[in-house]
Amino acid sequence: MENTQDTQREKDIQLEHQKLVEALEGWERTHSCGALDAKDMQAEVCLMGWVQFRRDHGGLIFVDLRDREGLTQVVFIPEVAPEAHEKAHILRSEYVIALKGYVRSRPEGMRNPNLLTGEIEVVVRSWKLLNTARTPAFIIDDRVEISENLKLEYRYLDLRRPRMSSNLRARHEMTKSIRRTLDENGFIEIETPMLTRSTPEGARDFLVPSRLNQGEFYALPQSPQLFKQLLMVGGMEKYFQIARCFRDEDLRADRQPEFTQIDIEMSFVDEEQVMALAEQLVARLFKDVRGLEVKLPFPRLSWDEAMRDYGVDKPDTRFALPLKEVTSIVHGGGFRLFAEAPLVKALRVPGGGTLSRKDIDDYTELVKIYGAQGLAWIKIRPDEWQSPIAKFLSDEERAGLKTALGLETGDLVFFQAGEADMVNAALGNLRLRVGEDLGLVDHSVLNFLWVTSFPMFEYDKDSKRYVACHHPFTQPASDDPGLLTADPARARARAYDMVLNGNEIGGGSIRNHNADIQRRTFAALGFSPEEAEAQFGFLLRALEFGAPPHGGIAFGLDRLVMLLTGSSSIREVIAFPKTQKATCLLTNAPARVSAGQLRELGIKLKE
Ligand code: AMO
Repeated sequence: MENTQDTQREKDIQLEHQKLVEALEGWERTHSCGALDAKDMQAEVCLMGWVQFRRDHGGLIFVDLRDREGLTQVVFIPEVAPEAHEKAHILRSEYVIALKGYVRSRPEGMRNPNLLTGEIEVVVRSWKLLNTARTPAFIIDDRVEISENLKLEYRYLDLRRPRMSSNLRARHEMTKSIRRTLDENGFIEIETPMLTRSTPEGARDFLVPSRLNQGEFYALPQSPQLFKQLLMVGGMEKYFQIARCFRDEDLRADRQPEFTQIDIEMSFVDEEQVMALAEQLVARLFKDVRGLEVKLPFPRLSWDEAMRDYGVDKPDTRFALPLKEVTSIVHGGGFRLFAEAPLVKALRVPGGGTLSRKDIDDYTELVKIYGAQGLAWIKIRPDEWQSPIAKFLSDEERAGLKTALGLETGDLVFFQAGEADMVNAALGNLRLRVGEDLGLVDHSVLNFLWVTSFPMFEYDKDSKRYVACHHPFTQPASDDPGLLTADPARARARAYDMVLNGNEIGGGSIRNHNADIQRRTFAALGFSPEEAEAQFGFLLRALEFGAPPHGGIAFGLDRLVMLLTGSSSIREVIAFPKTQKATCLLTNAPARVSAGQLRELGIKLKE
């Protein structure tokens, strides 16, 4: 792909300038471009970096020189260094230079209080051109809006923007803090294989064909789950890894096909120790990287409570607007949709009566994403209930709703009726949107919480079977192992998710260390004993050799960095991310391979 604005003339000029390039030959940087200030007056310095901007002004040439630490204004003055000044006319954006000179105070009126180095400038005595640059596809400046595709194609230019550099450095600070906390708590960092067997974490695997074992495939790990459990059987007791994970799933702002987990496992613990460690880890992280105090311990909500009040398993509790069930009030009543539905819930929006028809239409489109057919609503006016459905509601139903929802004049109420999954997803996500739209979300708040007591299984309508809610290695909460097979829908898991401002930032569980319960879990998931043995025999066997009680958690590092840096997508905090279609615009991966490579792997492509 060629995406440059260079004309032929510009290319010729750059070729000419290339001839002027010099080697470093012993020049060494004394300071970064973000370091010099009033205390450095008259210091002799050597700076290196990129030309942000050149301006010629009254016989002087000014250049803003940029490196990852900041910008320094340098000035070429003919009276100080005639040769250096003359040569500076070639300088263009993104040329790479080294210079020697001295620090002086900027003239009155030319100081820039917004810049770390805004009080000073460096007067150049001599300089070297280290490299030229083609005209960049975009200006390296945080204030300029750039299309994401262009940024990803020229990611190395995008990374020169201060915002990107600071995101990656925040990420580095975070992994440093994490390693320190875990090391101090006796955890050992251990690497686990990338070429492995499929581990079921709910997504599709990325497969890697084996040349030496043709027709067989490795799977890239969706997480190190089984290996970390095997490390516990192996007596490692406290393990962690900053682990790359691979999941072939539909991508969103907070999902990448390849992402990083802070993966943790501990032996001889139950939930309380894992959760306390996890809290300590994030509290320290926010303190180290942002200087913020995080209040411990975090509040806890059971999964049932989260679904009941917020409709989602990662509630944003920075604002109220709880969902309320009203099934019994409208059951058997005049509005057929409500009368017969298994579940009817309402979302009361105080003062929402001012929302327009257009707003309501937009919200109706939103809930359709979650399988709703439409969106019922009522505006509570002083003299009437304005709504397409009001005429179907009896006085008794109205009175019941008024009391149950605490309705007041000026309110707007949304309703959703149907299966619990749809009702909760539709209203839960509507709640989030309304909260944002009405400015109810306090963005200055860090709202951590735990969601606990997840169901063990959820019923998958497509495959008509139960699938693990967390993963199949999670221990059931009940001592009654019969529940797993007798009534899977009621079984609860010893699983916990950490949520920050409505984002799931981590999840974990206490694992089955008893082979028999692990076998029953596989059975409840529809595995025959032979299938369980074929796929997970190695785990079942390991559990039979003195596996200690163990549990752990994994945090999504990318999501944590995103939240900590106030970024809107995890693509902003990953050096080389993939697009929504899982492609890399920089390298053009994925790509076709040669016929020879396929032959070696014993693979033939369908035309
Ligand atoms: P889980 O699947 O919940 O648990 O993943 C843990 C955390 O990883 C993050 N995450 C992702 N981040 C970016 N892109 C993705 N595609 C993506 N998928 C997940 C989330 C999530 O909370 N083995 C278990 C952990 C355990 O039980 O210890 C696991 O992987 O922030």
